[in-house]
Amino acid sequence: MQHLDGLKDKWLAAIAGAGALDQLESLRVEALGKKGEVTGLMKTLGSLSPEERKSAGQSLNQLKDALAEAIEARKAALEEGALNQRLKRETLDLSLPARPELDGRLHPISQTIDEIVAIFGEMGFGVAEGPDIEDDFKNFTALNIPPDHPARQMQDTFYLPKKPGEKEAMVLRTHTSPVQIRTMMSKKPPIRVICPGRTYRSDSDMTHTPMFHQVEGLVVDETTHMGHLKGCLIDFVRAFFGIDDLPVRFRNSFFPFTEPSAEVDIGCDRSGGELKLGQGKDWLEILGCGMVHPKVLANCGIDPAKYQGFAFGMGIERIAMLKYGIPDLRTFFDADLRWLKHYGFVPLDVPSMTGGLTR
Ligand code: PHE
Repeated sequence: MQHLDGLKDKWLAAIAGAGALDQLESLRVEALGKKGEVTGLMKTLGSLSPEERKSAGQSLNQLKDALAEAIEARKAALEEGALNQRLKRETLDLSLPARPELDGRLHPISQTIDEIVAIFGEMGFGVAEGPDIEDDFKNFTALNIPPDHPARQMQDTFYLPKKPGEKEAMVLRTHTSPVQIRTMMSKKPPIRVICPGRTYRSDSDMTHTPMFHQVEGLVVDETTHMGHLKGCLIDFVRAFFGIDDLPVRFRNSFFPFTEPSAEVDIGCDRSGGELKLGQGKDWLEILGCGMVHPKVLANCGIDPAKYQGFAFGMGIERIAMLKYGIPDLRTFFDADLRWLKHYGFVPLDVPSMTGGLTR
């Protein structure tokens, strides 16, 4: 076994010279594989005398370990080199303009939320968010919907299984109104926020999906009054639909959390089977609103003798369907690429009041 040193040098040189991972792997097979040279020598040990076998076995094992170690080290170096090369090749120049051939489209829901945020942002509203899984207090009780109130049934609530030790089951929020509760509990007036987000109701047919989106608005200050509510919402719907003289009507309504409450209708024409906004004698309901009920303010630790506020809520799918002529609600959630290509928006056309909402 005197030639082992020569053998070691030969293989180490070959390993050091391997320029690619597959080449290195062939070397490993040739040296240490089942039919490899070193493995072959191991097999000859049986024919040696016990003493010879002991020392030769030791040397062979050392050779084997040394080669295996050299292969691992070379492998790590080659892999790192390959990674570095790939990183070099794949650099992205972020200052380049976007490639127009990019195929991705923004979902109409994302686009509509961006438009809503742009319009209310211009009016000085911030954006607030809250969790989809909400407690009973914030989704109902704080909003002046006590335990036996029929509104709880009206909203077809999804209840989560009660965890051990939990007094009340958590719910999937049935509206974005709990975010106004969270905002009032954590911030002092003046408050001016909109809260877009996912909402859930156990309802599924042509015009309802179990998950849908709403945007809530909340303004609280010492002198906030119904006139502010009306002006704000009239401005919003006219900006959103892009119709400066869009007729807007406030119709008396009821919500447990607002008093007085109203629903907002916009003028439209349904004659001829086609819906045209802004003309004709028909009305279309698009949102609910009202002055925040004094009990709701008090539930959130805001003194109703000093502060008053208004709130509104609307369905995002609904106004997106109206604005963009999307006929079927359920298609929003089919994840159909052809639909998205047709109704989607170019991602870099960010809506703004100065740059335009849609292009
Ligand atoms: N939360 C109400 C709903 O989901 C909408 C609403 C919000 C109405 C705020 C008035 C004020 O139906």
